[in-house]
Amino acid sequence: MSIIILHGDIVYAPSADELAIHENSYIVVKEGCVEGIYPEVPEQYKGVPVTDYGRKMIIPAFSDLHVHASQYVQRGIGMDCLLSDWLNNYTFPQESRFSDMEYAKNCYDAFVDDLIRHGTFHVNAFATIHREATDYLFNRLEEKGLYGYVGKVNMDCNSPDFLIETTEESLRETEVYLDSHKGSKRVKAILAPRFAPTCSKPLIDGLGKLAAKYACGVHTHLVESLWEAEEALRLFPEYGSDAEIYERAGLMNHGPSIFAHVIFPSKEDIRILKKHGSYAVHCPDATTNIIAGIMPVQRLNEQGMKITLGSDIAGGHGIAIYKQVARAVQLSKLKEFYEPSESKTITLTQAFYHATKEAGSAFGKVGSFEKGYLFNALVIDTMEDPWMTMTAEERLERFCYIGDDRNIRARYIEGREL
Ligand code: GUN
Ligand code: FE
Repeated sequence: MSIIILHGDIVYAPSADELAIHENSYIVVKEGCVEGIYPEVPEQYKGVPVTDYGRKMIIPAFSDLHVHASQYVQRGIGMDCLLSDWLNNYTFPQESRFSDMEYAKNCYDAFVDDLIRHGTFHVNAFATIHREATDYLFNRLEEKGLYGYVGKVNMDCNSPDFLIETTEESLRETEVYLDSHKGSKRVKAILAPRFAPTCSKPLIDGLGKLAAKYACGVHTHLVESLWEAEEALRLFPEYGSDAEIYERAGLMNHGPSIFAHVIFPSKEDIRILKKHGSYAVHCPDATTNIIAGIMPVQRLNEQGMKITLGSDIAGGHGIAIYKQVARAVQLSKLKEFYEPSESKTITLTQAFYHATKEAGSAFGKVGSFEKGYLFNALVIDTMEDPWMTMTAEERLERFCYIGDDRNIRARYIEGREL
């Protein structure tokens, strides 16, 4: 049996209002799963070598629940536009290049390497409409041992000539894609209608049938801006809410339903998402860069919604989820300041929980160190200045605000060091 033991300051969030801190402790990992955390090595494990990380922190690896792998090369460009102009002027022309496999491979290789560098081991990614390139991304994530959902994007209307499919082509290519990844383990196929404005009703309904046939979930953008929310209901006039478009098609019954942004949800959107245990993904950087609306995180959390974090590369400019943890706190303050009746400031612990345990639940038992969770973990510097000491809570906060990949000193997936 494989057993490893690590020593350090062990930190994780079992709930939105609790940070579990075990300083100067030992974590025992059996067959890739957490067995327990102890102040001393228990008698039965004496003799197992201990990897000693001193006062460095051991934390769960991060999950990114909304990222466009295909926009990795676009980071930090076009950031003075809002959504519609940004899509038309930058994103659509860039994504059209994924018909060229050389281009796609370069982009996806760099993307996957950067995810690992920044400690994101579980990822829900949009690719593009191109099946061959999407397969490449899927296989690359698998090869590297990461956990993920990968979607071949669907768009059959209101899109430029160079980045559009017919309805039939979109459904046929999607089915080939789903069929070729049946039975996969760590990485899974997910349906990815881009958003209501670029998908016809026959396309959405056809995807609903594929969801049932291949037992898969859905990943899309939902009420992300006032423009998008209005456009969705203009194009789907017989529907009462953006979420109903996906619900009525049967897209929320066969796997995780993951909705990016959810900034302007109606009561009906919230009811539908709660009913299906859907994930709402807060993307702080993208929200400030191209959307200019802020998710009411604290209110939605109190209303029992599942809230997670995403980098939304390249609406967001950086891949590091720990920075999104800090930004989620910052934005919640602005939200409270400008709209005090809408939502209140959240804590760092709450934001960290959304980025680890809550987001991780989309992939299985990852994102926490409770017994039985997979040991997908990061070892983080102490983050202290040499002449002063800080609490573990303060050190975690500092990492989220001013840390970078150089402060990640070791990475483990299923108990195996990378
Ligand atoms: N809505 C439709 N497409 C996109 C995209 O590529 N990024 C973001 N942030 N929103 C979108
Ligand atoms: Fe997005």
